[in-house]
This record gives sequence, structure tokens and C-alpha cells, in this order.
Amino acid sequence: MHPPENGKNHRARRNFLGQALTAAGAAIAAPSLLSQATSAQSEKPASIPGQGEISVTLSINDKQETLAIEPRVTLLDTLRERLGLTGSKKGCDHGQCGACTVLVDGQRVYSCLALAVMQEGKQIVTVEGLAKGDVLHPVQAAFIENDGFQCGYCTPGQICASVALVDEVKRGCASAVTEDFDNLPQLTNLSEAEIKERLSGNLCRCSAYNGIVAAVQQVTGQAPPSPAAAMFMQEAGVSA
Ligand code: FES
Ligand code: FES
Repeated sequence: MHPPENGKNHRARRNFLGQALTAAGAAIAAPSLLSQATSAQSEKPASIPGQGEISVTLSINDKQETLAIEPRVTLLDTLRERLGLTGSKKGCDHGQCGACTVLVDGQRVYSCLALAVMQEGKQIVTVEGLAKGDVLHPVQAAFIENDGFQCGYCTPGQICASVALVDEVKRGCASAVTEDFDNLPQLTNLSEAEIKERLSGNLCRCSAYNGIVAAVQQVTGQAPPSPAAAMFMQEAGVSA
């Protein structure tokens, strides 16, 4: 049997129930407020800045996108949340995993560390922009042919980083493990250590690293070239 409640306990319980119901009411009301806010937001033309926003025009995958965004919004959030380009992944959101890697003016960039408003006038390419129609980019094809992924979460970033890696080697960029600066590595003699070092900013929690390295080796013409790799070599003007 419960002991009889005194008046003080009664009041305390009433107060508690009142607070709980108020909180529940707020939770029920929140979705409708949210949907009102969302519909108000979607009615606003994307190019008209609201309070605290500025208008920016970004070139993404050869398309011009004009958006009203807050200056503190990252490129990654802009791609994923505003433009529906969800290929670039949010892993750490702190510049530590590489899942968000995109190409900006041909160079790899962690889009979680880049502010969208600072990308005006630059050419942004995401994993969605690599294929030409139904034809995969040779790096994408090489990843498939060499099992360069398992869950696939890191893969868009790994692919963008690999595309940039190939371009960096073609431009004669050294890496932290390059030993002879007078004899910089070429695509066809890029060592495994060079590939691993140059991709060390992209982590794979599934540890698909062997397949990733093999994919890069294939694309650089070191392994028996697949049709995709052969096409890439031809386009890059590289003889194996
Ligand atoms: S999400 Fe950008 S580096 Fe991890
Ligand atoms: S394939 Fe799963 S994280 Fe890399």
C-alpha cells in the first residue's frame, strides 16, 4: 500500500506533471512549426539573402549554383544539405578522415574545412561530376575492378584524392617520401610508398587499402591496364 500523500507532495507532483506535459506539447508543436519554417524557407528564392546570409555563385560540376548562405557554412554542408550532392561524405567534420574530399581548381580539398563563400570563382568537382554520362571516370572504374572499397563510405573521398594524386604526379609535385628531387617520380614508376603517402589523408575504416593502391597502380599504368586505364593513359598522354 502507498503511504497517503500530503499536500506538499501533491503540489510537487502536479508541478512535475505540468512541466512534463508542457514539454510534450512543445515537442508535438515543434514539427508543425518546423514545417512552417521549412515551407517559408523554400518559398524564399535561393538567391535572395536572408538575415546574416550573403549571395554566392558556385561552379560545381560545370554548373553554376547561386545560393544565399551564411558565411560560416562549410562547402560540405552546402553540397550535401543545400544542393543534394550527397556523394561527399561527412566522416569526422574535423579535417581528419578525408571522407569529404572534393576537387577545387584541380586540387584536393577537405570540404568540411572549406567555407562555401570562399569558393566563388573556383571550379569545384565532386564525385558526382567525375563520370561522363554513363561512362565512369577511369579512377572510378579502377576502384571497382580492384575491389578498392568495402562499405563505400570513404570511397568518394578516396576517388577524388586519387584523381588529384595522378594530376599532382603529372605536375611534378614531390611528396614527403620523395627521395630524389632531381628525379621526381613519374606515373609509371610511382612506388607503393609514394601512393600510400599521397593518400594518407584519406582513412578507410574497412581497411580496403590494398585494393585502393592497386586501383591507383592500374590507373597509372603499372598493372596490366584495364580498358578504362588504357583510355586514361591515352588521354593523359602517358606511355606505359
Ligand atoms: S569529414 Fe572532412 S576530413 Fe573528415
Ligand atoms: S570502404 Fe568502408 S570506410 Fe573505406
